[in-house]
Amino acid sequence: MLPAGLLGSSVVAASSANLGPGFDSLGLALSLYDEIAVETTDSGLHVEVEGESAGELVLDAGHLVVRAVERGLQAAGASVPGLRVRCRNAIPHSRGVGSSAAAVVGGLAAVNGLLAQAGWTPLSHADLIQLASEFEGHPDNAAAAVLGGPVVSWTDVSGLPPKFSAVPVRLHPDIRLFPAIPEQRSSTAEARVLLPAQVSHQDARFNVSRAALLVVALTERPDLLMAATEDVLHQPQRAHAMPASAEYLRLLRRYDMAAVLSGAGPTVIALSTAAELPAEALEYAAANGFAVSEMTAGEGVRWSSGTAVPS
Ligand code: HSE
Repeated sequence: MLPAGLLGSSVVAASSANLGPGFDSLGLALSLYDEIAVETTDSGLHVEVEGESAGELVLDAGHLVVRAVERGLQAAGASVPGLRVRCRNAIPHSRGVGSSAAAVVGGLAAVNGLLAQAGWTPLSHADLIQLASEFEGHPDNAAAAVLGGPVVSWTDVSGLPPKFSAVPVRLHPDIRLFPAIPEQRSSTAEARVLLPAQVSHQDARFNVSRAALLVVALTERPDLLMAATEDVLHQPQRAHAMPASAEYLRLLRRYDMAAVLSGAGPTVIALSTAAELPAEALEYAAANGFAVSEMTAGEGVRWSSGTAVPS
């Protein structure tokens, strides 16, 4: 049992999964961060949320960050007499920018702050990826939030639970990131139902080549980003459920900007060496409720002990 009075905190990035062809495999952390602080108390559970979705989230043991904290403690073989959890949310929810992965990774990493303060061994990056991916069922967002930058992740389903792994990939310094986050929300679970259980060999072959090419484009050859971000496995199937995103994506690609759905959408992200988006794209985004900004690749999760949030 850990004593009361310990404080662990974390800073964790938003992320964009899939990046077009890399369904459930490729991810990219974005420079937009949630902050989580966890304190051990004498008894009970107290949860506070400010920022994105404050007022909409349950403030009890069902809160995703609390569930992640409990899971992290369990994995470390620790328990606590009581907990106070504070979340400062900057990552919009239900938009395809990895808010749930950030909540889980941030909660697990904040546990590391508690463990370190008590002299226990913290969870490793591999542990964080495994535990966080078990929540999500796939490692793309979770691995990006843990490692930062672009990642390639994969799943070994030969055992139970599946084993989730990931490696970081260097992002070419000329590639700029322009996420467009709409007001409209979409549930990942509902967006997954739109996908067929089976795909043709031809479509699988198409995506395998583009996903492999995308690793080359992201690291060495940004000039190949247009071809490398083509996808036939999930974006066309999801387009009718998020028509404004599908239209914005088409518009950007007409201007030779490599645009993809971010995760299950409805956010769209453009990856480009151009300094700015075409005026017509910005007009379309503004008229259709998208907030467009430029972000950089996000850092991997940081955690610390004894302070409110790591600086
Ligand atoms: N790979 C997932 C999907 C990302 O597209 O459904 C959402 O977390």
